[in-house]
Amino acid sequence: MTGHETADVLVVGSGIAGLAAALAAAREGNDVVVATKATRPEDASSWWAQGGIAVARDHPDRFRRDILAASDGTADPEAVEVLVENANDAVRDVLVETLDVTFDGGADGSVGTDAAAGANPPETAAEFADRDGGFDFGREAAHTEDRILHVGAETGKHVHVPLLNHLDNRADAELRTDTAALELIGHEGRIHGAVVESEGDRTPVYAGATVLATGGVGDLFARSTNPAGATGDGIAMAALAGATVTDAEFVQFHPTAYAAGPDEDGFLVSEAVRGEGALLRNGDGERFMPDYHPDAELAPRDVVARAVDREREATGSVVLDVEPLDFADEFPGLAGKCEDRGVDWTRGIPVAPAEHFLCGGVAVDDRGRTSLDRLYAVGECARTGVHGANRLASTSLLEGLVWGLRAGADAADAAAGDADPEAVETPALLDRDPALPDDFARQKFRRLRRVMDDCVGIERDADDLNRALGVLRRLKGEVDAYVRTRTSRSLYELRNATVTALLVTRQALANERSVGTHYRTDAAEPAEPGPADD
Ligand code: SIN
Repeated sequence: MTGHETADVLVVGSGIAGLAAALAAAREGNDVVVATKATRPEDASSWWAQGGIAVARDHPDRFRRDILAASDGTADPEAVEVLVENANDAVRDVLVETLDVTFDGGADGSVGTDAAAGANPPETAAEFADRDGGFDFGREAAHTEDRILHVGAETGKHVHVPLLNHLDNRADAELRTDTAALELIGHEGRIHGAVVESEGDRTPVYAGATVLATGGVGDLFARSTNPAGATGDGIAMAALAGATVTDAEFVQFHPTAYAAGPDEDGFLVSEAVRGEGALLRNGDGERFMPDYHPDAELAPRDVVARAVDREREATGSVVLDVEPLDFADEFPGLAGKCEDRGVDWTRGIPVAPAEHFLCGGVAVDDRGRTSLDRLYAVGECARTGVHGANRLASTSLLEGLVWGLRAGADAADAAAGDADPEAVETPALLDRDPALPDDFARQKFRRLRRVMDDCVGIERDADDLNRALGVLRRLKGEVDAYVRTRTSRSLYELRNATVTALLVTRQALANERSVGTHYRTDAAEPAEPGPADD
């Protein structure tokens, strides 16, 4: 390991949250480095987001209530307040005014521009969000009003790509792909940057502030809606450096991922499809959701995911019946994905739950500050308190945007002129691998996923969780032994996945109460809402 680099602010990860943090820090006059291990920066969950981005419109109280209700009353009201109060302004500032994103239904297809606003351009965010004749606000499960801005069912890429391009064009922000953070550089409770690896070379990047935005944990499970590489890197690095991680047991499973065969790629079938009227039917052709919850297909996501899981178990399969809507017209991208796989969607799309989003993570405050000085976490790797035990649909891009902007601005203040490479020693890492043990990592990953699927999935109990703990502890021992002598990126990913899996499992074991996404079959009173009234 030779030399070092410096930045005012180092951001690890290139999803909407990390990019928003980078944007806010750069706007404050900081030099920002964004490091992502992805070879294409758009390989982030944000790009994949289908549903959209919820805004408060002019009913913040309703939005607040819906978030709290979906979370089973476990979301932190103060964090929810921060999200809701800042939603319209953040969307307007970044997505509409800076990036000129064209959301569906804008009066003339150029939402938020003067042309879209007609002769009287809106002056405040609330007006923008409430304008008549404007956006085609969508609805998804557990929302009590139409409030989701979207671009078809491909909102993520229409938001993410312009943000990437914008940052790429700024002189004060540098985007580095294929650059993985391996370890945080910590000293006496303060974080001074990270050691990054690119093409086998490792370099300490000293930073006045470091923002983790590494996304979720999809790679811990066999079936996930995340892009590959979601190995919980930020959560593990933060935990290993001593930061607090909470609510890790709240792993959200999306109810309707395409039930892919062994050699097929899965894909998410957006909740927006159910929002438009699609129905869930079991292997006997029966609609079952009204038996589980008064809101049927639009019940909170955890309820629908468990119901789909149970009906698959009982009847062999579940399909999403899209006959009630004009599927091909309303969701051409999804219809295309079905057709690519030879699925005749007129007979229903086979679906199964898949890991989708981690509601917990590195504990942060309302500015994304972790328990360690100069370390921030934003987006899915962070636990802001907004989601509690279950996240409301279409709030993840919003949370990433709002907290990204707040953390970036705070990091910029904290960093001001402060990257001090002489202050600390970097962690001792080997320079290059004697040999790449990728086969070892692949094999161990299979073991990790098997135990997470079997024991830490949609339903859990103490016996299974203890069994998972045993397997994961042994795995951690093996990985640690390897990491002392060989340091390939895949080994770090395996270490990060193992550390994160251990955190999820330990916190799942410690929480004996079924709530939201965390469903303990051995809890005293598993609380499920009753069927719909006739
Ligand atoms: C979806 O489109 O169903 C996913 C949206 C989300 O997870 O917020």
